[in-house]
Amino acid sequence: MFPVRLDTAVWLDLLQDVQWVDLTADDTAFGQLRDGLHQAGLRAEDSFAWDPARSPFPGLEPFDWQDAAVFFGREQEIGRLIQLLTSTLLRGPGRFVAIAGPSGSGKSSLLRAGLLPRLERLANRWVVVPPMQPGRQPLQSLAHSLRAAFRVAGHERTWTGLLDRLDQGPGSLIELGYELGEATGGAGRSVLLVVDQAEELVTRSGPRAQERFLALLRGALREDSPMWAIATLRAEFLSSAPDRAGLAEAIDDILLIEPLSRARLPEIIQRPAQRAGLDFAPGLVQRMVEDTTGGDALPLLAWTLQQLYHDAGPGPERVVTAKAYEALGGVVGSLQRQAGLLTDELHRRGHGGLVLPTLLKLVTIDEAGEPTRRRVERRQLPAAGNAIVQAFVDARLLTSNREGGEGTVEVAHEALLRQWPPLRQAILDAQEGLRLRSQVERLASDWERGGHDESYLLRGTRLVAFEAWAGQHPDDLGAGDRRFLDASKALADRERAADLERERGRQAEALTRGAETAEDPALALLLAIEALQRSADAQTDRLVRTCLHRLGTSDIVPILTETDGAGFARARQRLTLSDWSRGPGASGQWLLGDAEIQFAVDERGRALYGAGTVIPMAAPVVVAACVRAGIACLGTESGELAICQLADRAEKVGGRDLGVPITSVAVSEAAQALAVACDDNNIRVLHVEDLSDVECLASAGFTRDLDLGGGQLAAALSHDCRIRVWDLVSGALACESAAPKNARRLAIDDGGDYVIIGDSEPSGRVPLSVRALTAWARHAAGRELTADEWHRYINEPRT
Ligand SMILES: Nc1ncnc2c1ncn2[C@@H]1O[C@H](COP(=O)(O)OP(=O)(O)O)[C@@H](O)[C@H]1O
Ligand SMILES: [Mg+2]
Repeated sequence: MFPVRLDTAVWLDLLQDVQWVDLTADDTAFGQLRDGLHQAGLRAEDSFAWDPARSPFPGLEPFDWQDAAVFFGREQEIGRLIQLLTSTLLRGPGRFVAIAGPSGSGKSSLLRAGLLPRLERLANRWVVVPPMQPGRQPLQSLAHSLRAAFRVAGHERTWTGLLDRLDQGPGSLIELGYELGEATGGAGRSVLLVVDQAEELVTRSGPRAQERFLALLRGALREDSPMWAIATLRAEFLSSAPDRAGLAEAIDDILLIEPLSRARLPEIIQRPAQRAGLDFAPGLVQRMVEDTTGGDALPLLAWTLQQLYHDAGPGPERVVTAKAYEALGGVVGSLQRQAGLLTDELHRRGHGGLVLPTLLKLVTIDEAGEPTRRRVERRQLPAAGNAIVQAFVDARLLTSNREGGEGTVEVAHEALLRQWPPLRQAILDAQEGLRLRSQVERLASDWERGGHDESYLLRGTRLVAFEAWAGQHPDDLGAGDRRFLDASKALADRERAADLERERGRQAEALTRGAETAEDPALALLLAIEALQRSADAQTDRLVRTCLHRLGTSDIVPILTETDGAGFARARQRLTLSDWSRGPGASGQWLLGDAEIQFAVDERGRALYGAGTVIPMAAPVVVAACVRAGIACLGTESGELAICQLADRAEKVGGRDLGVPITSVAVSEAAQALAVACDDNNIRVLHVEDLSDVECLASAGFTRDLDLGGGQLAAALSHDCRIRVWDLVSGALACESAAPKNARRLAIDDGGDYVIIGDSEPSGRVPLSVRALTAWARHAAGRELTADEWHRYINEPRT
């Protein structure tokens, strides 16, 4: 209360004993009154509403805007920041201001409780966007903050919509600034983007996400735009090291803050306490000030004050006693004592062993080795982890927040990581792993946002080191990080396979040269086999066959019915059905199917099914084939092709006029593909489903018989007694071989290893696969490569 005198005619004796201000004299009295109020710490612009139910000491957490009324000790810095946020000719056009200082010096508090509430009062000058923390995806965090800002202004925007706008670049951010200005009731305001813990751009965001975010800010903070930005930043991140130079360069003005001087400590202890009606025993404030020493002095003091406030309980006229203070363990001891007690309690509840591992999930290590906070989503923690986290949240050592709808948790302040010895030691022990995890997370975020581009993936020793770590800490990875790691592994496998392929190619070349020049035919064959094992192409296949011929061996392999018989069931069935080519049997019909299928063609070229249904065709059928999958294929001399589905009855399901006489047909076992040999020296491969073309293979001469096998091979026996096998995937000729003069039919065996040749009975086979051809050639050569030969042709570097 200030007695003032307004009227010279009035005089109160009462005023003789107290100080009063005479406002009747002249204007200087107003000045005196203002100075007096200021001296008593009562500035109009500094008075904020206070919620008496709130603790005036936020503990390890920073002071927030609701704490503006109890935030003291930083008046000068606030004034300086307001100056920096005013464009003047003197300070130049820069619009990115940073508050930098050591961890725990009070940067976040200065920003949130000191500066922002004052700017909010200048509503016709500033629109303040709620603070963002960059995290792993800074653009996404910015979109969340902008959404909150629009919501405060009564305009709902979707987060994804805002993110899309941010993706369009700085111009779009500037437009959003104008829109926000208008939404809050008037153009011409400056819009302030607020980035707390900007060091997360280095410790949590991927390098490319950091770059994109800073480029967006730099582009939007132009003189002709309404945007400004303010950030808090740990001072060690103002550096020209490659991972952080971008950040340092983006900043225009820096306010470096120091830890609060000792002279200011009594004020920050007593004045918030006064607001809450809390008193200290005589001498206690001074004692606490003296105890506040060493690293992290401010957070430790803040923590102790919060404990004392809560221990004092509710009610008026509370006094903090020296005893209560000592019981806590003093400013330096109280944090570690509290954390220790809590851990003991968790031990009793059976969670003890998990406390430190769980807390380690909330730590990351930057390249410089400093432990930093790491926000994690609570749903990523297992149940026991969540119980531990909750106990630490209740004890105010951790804080739980909502970030874009996800419940997250983080340390209340990084001082916890430094000031509690067991945790500090655990971090030290896990250092290497924490660093790896941090790297992977940052790169994984970039990869996720970068459209899964291969160039973002881990390689080489980094991948090896991380795989080893991930193997030991399987629960420590988010789903996205796991995908990133898997993709990196897959890429490494692919690259390894490609390397191997190149190496094999190189060896195959050397071996081929060796086979071509070797004088001893057995050695030539052995070298050719080795080449074939490394490069299974038609050329090497031919080489092996040539070497076999040099050795005097044909590439037709006899069939040993006793041992091989079972493998040829399909081929045998196919060859038996060749009764077709010999004219009608006793019944006057060529039986095509077996007893089960009952599909036949009679001597007049009529196709018959079951009990004698005739399948109508324009011209007599001259060739036919069918498979157990229930498909029959018919061809005529006039070039008509028909497909029939064989079930209870036969139904014609497709037809095509090829316009050239058809000489042979084959259907693949699974009834997907169809091969048709025509009189124009072409073999057409078609889809059974719609008879569309798959491939056209050039055969030499009239085709006697053909077959499709294994889904990807086509084999043909031509009139000039050659067997040709094509790989349908590449369309290339995979093998070519001479057939015996009397061979009339062929079939590819089930495994695709051989072409079986015969005439109603299998009579020989041509090895087809590398496996079969190698086995045959080895057998023919009758020996192995010697160690010397091996070394000479395979291991010797190329000259
Ligand atoms: N002006 C202040 N008065 C009292 N305590 C403060 C003040 N500024 C910060 N603190 C306390 O110091 C600790 C560190 O503050 P914070 O703003 O988080 O610092 P930084 O962001 O630099 O790490 C917190 O416990 C906070 O409550
Ligand atoms: Mg901070």
